[in-house]
Amino acid sequence: MQGTSNANQRIARIAAHLLPSNSQMMEGSSMNLGWENCRAKGASPGFKVAILGAAGGIGQPLSMLMKMNPLVSVLHLYDVVNTPGVTADISHMDTGAVVRGFLGKEKLDEALTGMDLVIIPAGVPRKPGMTRDDLFNINAGIVKTLCEGIARCCPRAIVNLISNPVNSTVAIAAEVFKKAGTYDPKLLLGVTMLDVVRANTFVAEVLGLDPREVDVPVVGGHAGVTILPLLSQVKPSCSFTPEEVNYLTDRIQNGGTEVVEAKAGAGSATLSMAYAAVKFADACLRGLRGEAGVVAYAFLESQACSASQPCYLDVHVAGLEKAKKELAASIQKGVSFARK
Ligand SMILES: NC(=O)c1ccc[n+]([C@@H]2O[C@H](COP(=O)([O-])OP(=O)(O)OC[C@H]3O[C@@H](n4cnc5c(N)ncnc54)[C@H](O)[C@@H]3O)[C@@H](O)[C@H]2O)c1
Repeated sequence: MQGTSNANQRIARIAAHLLPSNSQMMEGSSMNLGWENCRAKGASPGFKVAILGAAGGIGQPLSMLMKMNPLVSVLHLYDVVNTPGVTADISHMDTGAVVRGFLGKEKLDEALTGMDLVIIPAGVPRKPGMTRDDLFNINAGIVKTLCEGIARCCPRAIVNLISNPVNSTVAIAAEVFKKAGTYDPKLLLGVTMLDVVRANTFVAEVLGLDPREVDVPVVGGHAGVTILPLLSQVKPSCSFTPEEVNYLTDRIQNGGTEVVEAKAGAGSATLSMAYAAVKFADACLRGLRGEAGVVAYAFLESQACSASQPCYLDVHVAGLEKAKKELAASIQKGVSFARK
């Protein structure tokens, strides 16, 4: 017991450096005994993660789930509204990560400094009848500003970009990082894990299996025809009728719209998205920690589909050319915006 207690004290002392001495958990706290007065400054050893847009529909459950992730030692929650409430709420969970909140754009740099992983669900979601591209005008500027902060404060952080249209926002982020001289394609990942999660679920339903046993590779981007489920490479090995292929491809490509319509104006997928984002973030952190054999799908710059190097893709993916054409246009739109 004594040994454990000493070890805990040592860990707490080591972890104290994670928190600046003059920082408070949240500005405006009126408690007499401040958090800074507490003896153990908290934090188990682990990674520092920031969530930008933490008070939103995705941001809140995502923050909660990341607070439960044992690989996270420090969790920074940033938003332009409502961060104090979300931070106070989540900070009461008795898990290892220390939570700090940051409200408003003047706190962006503080929120980002020293982060290992930055997850971005900031921006407006779709309403019925909208495409993801309809969000471009608002979300492009938000993503650009946030990525400028990342380039300044944590240029080696892995970025998980959730804000739509992902097919364009990743290109905007890439341009910002190129301009700052910090771009590394391996660190900038558009989050498409929700498409994988949906594909696993829908394929499991068709096959009558437990979704946890099913692994469906989904490549390409994150909008309609750019989402390419590789149904001939499903694990466990199986085959589908042409009708099943059509049904599954359509349902996976339009799963987001199914949720937007069901929510009838109240937003897009938030809970399944938070689940998918955490699954993806966890894969990134396990990769960072050096774990071997971690495989996850994302939208990122790659030479896999260049003219000189033919794509290793499912031969049955009839929509590949269509997807490449739409992706090229979305990427160009992002590049033009960022270079304006
Ligand atoms: N990649 C995917 O698979 C996927 C799935 C679902 C939704 N999305 C996208 O995720 C984004 C967020 O969706 P949501 O449902 O959480 O929306 P939401 O409106 O509920 O939340 C967005 C949050 O972003 C915050 N925000 C706005 N501007 C900001 C800024 N400059 N800095 C920091 N925070 C800012 C808002 O205050 C809000 O709290 C949308 O663009 C949506 O289309 C992506």
